[in-house]
Amino acid sequence: MKKILVLNGPNLNMLGLREPEIYGPETLRDVEDLCYETAMGHNMRVECRQTNHEGVLVDWIQEARGIYDGLIINAAAFTHTSVAIHDALRLLDIPIIEVHLSDPKKREEFRHFSYVEPVAARVIAGQGAKGYKLAVEAINELLS
Ligand code: DQA
Repeated sequence: MKKILVLNGPNLNMLGLREPEIYGPETLRDVEDLCYETAMGHNMRVECRQTNHEGVLVDWIQEARGIYDGLIINAAAFTHTSVAIHDALRLLDIPIIEVHLSDPKKREEFRHFSYVEPVAARVIAGQGAKGYKLAVEAINELLS
């Protein structure tokens, strides 16, 4: 059974409470449940983790080597700042899908650049929680 790691970065633990007009009403738990359900429907297994800490994300990305078949990452604000996350992602030879609930390219200029995008097989943005379902489906498609 294929295994997917879903990583969520800073402040995404506050989903539901955090600017719902931008990020939607769903909680992190809702988003994670959607990932589990979608993966199950495709006979894949998902593990979901969230942290507010850049170094922890780097550790988890490194650990994914040789264990997971695909990675879904919403690095949140670190998307726009973290060379360390970019470098860690370059260590992986599995499909990486970058997800954002909002569309950062349509927001403030400081959100327009992504350090994740150059290493991502696909970017899914602006689709709210549904973007995670699309990301699991995209991994399934890339692996089959
Ligand atoms: C986000 C977009 C980022 O710009 C922002 O810093 C986030 C969430 C999104 O999912 O829309 O924290 O990654």
